[in-house]
Amino acid sequence: MEPKEQILEMLKDRPEEFVSGEDLSEALNISRTMVWKHIGSLREDGYIIESVTGRGYMLKETPDLLLPFEIKRNLKTEFVGRQIHHFDELASTNLRARQIASDSPNGTIIVAERQLEGRGRMGREWSSPPDGIYLSMILKPGIPPDHIHRLTLVAGVAAAEVLNELGLKAEIKWPNDILINGKKVCGILTEMDAEMNAVNYVIIGIGINANTDLDMLPPITRIGATSIKEELGREVDRVAITQNFLERFERHYVTFLTGDLHPVLEYWREHSSTIGRRVKIVTKFRTIVGEAVGIDHDGALIVELDDGTVEKAITGTCFYI
Ligand code: BTN
Repeated sequence: MEPKEQILEMLKDRPEEFVSGEDLSEALNISRTMVWKHIGSLREDGYIIESVTGRGYMLKETPDLLLPFEIKRNLKTEFVGRQIHHFDELASTNLRARQIASDSPNGTIIVAERQLEGRGRMGREWSSPPDGIYLSMILKPGIPPDHIHRLTLVAGVAAAEVLNELGLKAEIKWPNDILINGKKVCGILTEMDAEMNAVNYVIIGIGINANTDLDMLPPITRIGATSIKEELGREVDRVAITQNFLERFERHYVTFLTGDLHPVLEYWREHSSTIGRRVKIVTKFRTIVGEAVGIDHDGALIVELDDGTVEKAITGTCFYI
């Protein structure tokens, strides 16, 4: 841990107490001036730290931000989220992730408090006002490119689990929109860089309307959208949600890499809002209309057409009709 983080840890360990500059400087083996500088830098990050001559420093308030230190604190993962890049503002976390992916370790994440050009699936925009969660994970799974859509299901299931644990009734709309009461609360955008047979890296971008004020969304988006805050009637701890997501994602991801997609598919099926519905699936090359009857071992949606034949889709946009 960096000295700055150690100072924060010591202040957090002794809430409501003053920790003397001397104690800090001795514990960290740095000068009192350096302690003062780190305190200044923590204040710049948004921590409210009171200082009283002769008594020391007391942490009064932790900022409501997705700061790397806060996310990493007590995070129970091996590699996902071990390296975190945080930004107050960014065009798109997926875009930034792509820029640094080749030189970043597996599991690196990028988080932003808001995005100026958040990207959705199919070239759509993802409005990203403050108080949401905008996160991209860089992964190097060493799987063939045509297995990537399965990874999106892994992320979708992890996100749905997190929301359901909060007491919400989250459902998954194929392929990976998370809905509450039919309104979208979370979207996932998976991008990759691959050769013919091997993936160099995958970026999984996830956007969650957490404490998002729905008024901050453009009217056209607002109609079909909701947020956790809206559904629960209270604000939630975005750091805790992020940690929970990363932990659940890593667990499912590791199982997925052993070749076992079962637990993910099972949860997906149980929480699907798509199965049993009449759907129109639009892909680049075709449109399928029929009843969604299931999802196969590979994560493809099975659609029974009106003439009784069956078609499968692994990607596309799904409309309930
Ligand atoms: C969709 O449902 O269309 C996918 C939305 C994905 C949004 C997330 S927010 C974090 C990451 N960065 C982006 O620009 N997009 C994804």
